[in-house]
Amino acid sequence: MHSKRKPVIAGNWKMFNTTSEAATLVNELSSLVARFNDREIVVCPPFTALAAVRPILDETGIKLGAQNVHWEEKGAFTGEISPAMLKDAGCDYVILGHSERRQFFAETDENVNRKLKSVLKAGLIPIVCVGESLSEREAGITSTVVSRQIKIGLDGIDAESAKKIIIAYEPIWAIGTGRTASAADANAVCAFIRLTLTGMLGTPVADAIRIQYGGSVKPDNVDELMGSSDIDGALVGGASLKADDFGRIVGFTATSK
Ligand code: PGA
Repeated sequence: MHSKRKPVIAGNWKMFNTTSEAATLVNELSSLVARFNDREIVVCPPFTALAAVRPILDETGIKLGAQNVHWEEKGAFTGEISPAMLKDAGCDYVILGHSERRQFFAETDENVNRKLKSVLKAGLIPIVCVGESLSEREAGITSTVVSRQIKIGLDGIDAESAKKIIIAYEPIWAIGTGRTASAADANAVCAFIRLTLTGMLGTPVADAIRIQYGGSVKPDNVDELMGSSDIDGALVGGASLKADDFGRIVGFTATSK
């Protein structure tokens, strides 16, 4: 974490929580995180719970995000939701290219790029997910995979818009497995991502872009992760469904070993 970049902790609820469960969770959470105004806090419920969560968040510093979006503004795209619709629903953030979408719903880097351009135009803050699979890591091609995802995903984005982007580095083998990348390994890839961004957009822009780590972030590992030079936040799945755990993660104290 660098003092120039505001930390951002986001909860990715995935396909969990009905409207009443969602309301209960954010009510519990709002009292736990009210005092942290030096960090951005985001929750990303399923689409169906956005309307239930939004009025509760109005009273707090917590922001609302969605987990996916379509790149078109409107039209005959059954089952899809546009950036303007997310804005209208009270979202400020949207997750793009999560590995589960890449794996189960054929999301490609090209589609992530289309979505990214469209959400930036609509004034949403994108959280662009990248990360390698276990076999890619074992084959020693993590940097090849991640740099391709960044280069195609962020292709053609101008410098001013790029500063708003949040990247989430999520090694697929660490998601939902309880197996976290060590802080040193996670930071090494985040630093590599920043180097890739420097090559594409220049140092001032790359230094402004926040890079989160995601993959089994928990209360007991968040402090060390956040103590790493190039990790500016966390994208939290499982632990974001428990108010106490997410509250504790939001309340991290960056420590370095
Ligand atoms: P996890 O999920 O924290 O449950 O590993 C992270 C994510 O998929 O964003």
